[in-house]
Amino acid sequence: MKHIKQINQLRVELKQFASQTIGFVPTMGYLHLGHLELIKRAREECDIVVLSIFVNPLQFGPNEDFSRYPRDIERDEQLAKEAGVDFLFSPSVEEMYPEKPLTHIEVDEITSKLCGSSRPGHFSGVATVVTKLFHIVSPDRAYFGLKDAQQVAVVEQLVKDLSFPVEIVPCDIVREEDGLALSSRNVYLSSDARKQATVLYRALKEIQANPPSDPESIRSILHERISATPLARIDYIDVLSYPGLQAVTTIENQTVIVAVAVYFDQTRLIDNILLR
Ligand code: PAJ
Repeated sequence: MKHIKQINQLRVELKQFASQTIGFVPTMGYLHLGHLELIKRAREECDIVVLSIFVNPLQFGPNEDFSRYPRDIERDEQLAKEAGVDFLFSPSVEEMYPEKPLTHIEVDEITSKLCGSSRPGHFSGVATVVTKLFHIVSPDRAYFGLKDAQQVAVVEQLVKDLSFPVEIVPCDIVREEDGLALSSRNVYLSSDARKQATVLYRALKEIQANPPSDPESIRSILHERISATPLARIDYIDVLSYPGLQAVTTIENQTVIVAVAVYFDQTRLIDNILLR
């Protein structure tokens, strides 16, 4: 595995593989089994696997956790090597943004819902860095987790609207044994919060097992279950069409996303299920 920190160097290295399929897994690092599953899938389906690790300041709000976001590049490097990554790209902020960028990518409409409404500017930061990374790596396929299902919808829209020659591969959510979706942010949880956070998937699974057909009942069951958990503070609970993220009056005859964002102490966790 080659570990590269310069944009130009990665471009030069990847040029020789132009005739092979390049699989790309963009991450912010502090790798866990969710990330490793994306790498595994890329390894199975592509000739060359590129992993990026870059904590992207553009997608964090002023009061969010950019500076304290967990980082451990040495451990990540080891895990990436073991997972069969060919190129690890971990640029510095100065390398990616030598000066304040004046160009931003905005995906409309679907970014105003769910996480977009509680994190203004977040998806513009994501779309901008993903565009930049796609230009640097020129992947044939890029792997994204459905843990961030709205991000998948935004990236698919971006790729379609701007004709990126890349196939987006959505991958299932990887969970702990007790159901908690793996996330780099889980390390922030106190042991009480960690225990209580299992309510999210328990409540979503209850819906999945026996979905009421009207969104309002889904929302109210989830609200009841989650708000009965002492440390939980609900940010949103929503039921929308997927990937269009439109309001729905019934869940029948379409794919809908049931998505939640909940604070446990200061830590905001997200989870979702798709009902097809
Ligand atoms: P990050 O949060 O590091 O996630 C990188 C990728 O791993 C994303 O596609 C995310 O959906 C996926 N992932 C995270 N947890 C997962 C889980 N439990 N199961 C399956 N997949 C999971 O998402 C980002 O970084 C950034 O926004 C990025 C796309 C890199 C742009 O900066």
